[in-house]
Amino acid sequence: MAKPPGLYAPILRETLSDLYKNPPLGEKLTVKGWVRTRRTTRAVSFLELQDGSTLRALQVVLSHNLIPRERIESELHTGASIGVWGELTPTPERPQPFELVAEGYELYGSADPEAYPLQKKTHSLEFLREIAHLRPRTRTFQAIFRIRSGISFAIHQYFQERGFVYVHTPILTPSDCEGGGQLFQVTTLPLQQIPTHPDGRVAYEYDFFGRPAYLTVSGQLEGELLATGLGRIYTFGPTFRAEPSHTPRHLAEFWMIEPEMAFYDLSMTMDLAEDFLKYLIRYTLRNFSEELAFLAERYEPLLLAELEHAKESAFLRLSYTEAIEILQKSGKEFQFPTHWGSDLQAEHERYLVEEYAQRPVILYDYPKAIKAFYMRQNPDEKTVAAFDVLFPRIGEVIGGSQREERYEYLLSRIQELGMDLFTYENYLDTRRFGTVPHSGFGLGLERILLFLTGMTNVRDVVPFFRAPGQMA
Ligand code: 4AD
Ligand code: MG
Repeated sequence: MAKPPGLYAPILRETLSDLYKNPPLGEKLTVKGWVRTRRTTRAVSFLELQDGSTLRALQVVLSHNLIPRERIESELHTGASIGVWGELTPTPERPQPFELVAEGYELYGSADPEAYPLQKKTHSLEFLREIAHLRPRTRTFQAIFRIRSGISFAIHQYFQERGFVYVHTPILTPSDCEGGGQLFQVTTLPLQQIPTHPDGRVAYEYDFFGRPAYLTVSGQLEGELLATGLGRIYTFGPTFRAEPSHTPRHLAEFWMIEPEMAFYDLSMTMDLAEDFLKYLIRYTLRNFSEELAFLAERYEPLLLAELEHAKESAFLRLSYTEAIEILQKSGKEFQFPTHWGSDLQAEHERYLVEEYAQRPVILYDYPKAIKAFYMRQNPDEKTVAAFDVLFPRIGEVIGGSQREERYEYLLSRIQELGMDLFTYENYLDTRRFGTVPHSGFGLGLERILLFLTGMTNVRDVVPFFRAPGQMA
């Protein structure tokens, strides 16, 4: 097979994205990528070549005089990977600014058109979920994963610019931070023959850590230990929840960003959450216009308007008690009726955000009984200093709170809930020695990505999703 002559080797361009930024018109060069489509006429074949660096493709023209038509027709199907060389030629009369007039190509891998599941047409997101390993070949997922990458960088940038310390909290943990009991247990005990005590209890002294261990549901508890020394920290890592729910908003493995700040009260923390979310929206609008335009055109025509609107509006702050009154006065027939003390369902959150406020909403001061043990009790003794940020289309994107920093209150809450004191000894220690008011929150990366990309299912914003009964 013909190799690119030495002449061309030094001018291998990095990516199509580079080519479009600074096209070396009239020069000879080699590009490498995957065939998106091919069209063959009598004299020439046209390829659309993509390489993942941009949503734009490069048109390649192969003359049958130079390259036998039979070879092209047998090798260059959708999905095939090639390196192709020739001259980059301006095409002022065509929609695309230039094309590559090929002199030869090298085939890396063919893709049997009978077997390759991706074809030129637009495939449904449901279909693509079944072939998650091939989703990165589509422009939709290239756009989404590029935004996911950019936003991850922006998250670090936001906190680093503000002096927060990035800390790595453990993934293996003995505690259930959220108290929801949605833990994946990790063990090296033989499942066929689990050692037990005479009374039937599992003999954890034979397990790897000598005690039960789980995948973390949140880095918060360890984050608090670090914040009560370092001042302001954030975590950004994977979290795991064995939630049996099959909703489009829940994953069993998702990524969470958790800042924790010493000397912050609830209201300072809500300000930070709002500022942080607006920063991420601005960052996406500024850096991903090509991706946003594509996603808007294909999936969510209102995407750009929604992002602009959320970035410009002051989030509406309502106490839980006010929210319940609003819901009860709404005259709406909800599937789950509300009363003071009931947890809010997606339908209630959507009403508050989309109909009542018509902008993001921050709800705060929730009933103590429906929130986690670590939240600071308010003087009314019924509510805790918790908050949730609710977004249109998505519902909850952030959950946070001021933490209970008073030793006696925290201890009695832990005892009241029948939690294992031994597990929370270190946590309690931070309240015994130089305790401080402190607060933090958790942002679900996939939830904010739904908002930023216009997608409606969290399975579509993570490369390989884990959900009950499903490992992509
Ligand atoms: O509200 P959550 O449970 O709060 C915490 O875990 C606290 N420890 C955070 C903190 O104060 N440091 O979860 C925080 C966020 C939610 O608002 C949601 O965006 C996301 O994590 N989340 C999930 N995302 C995808 N799949 C799931 N199963 C999720 N559960 C929570
Ligand atoms: Mg929550």
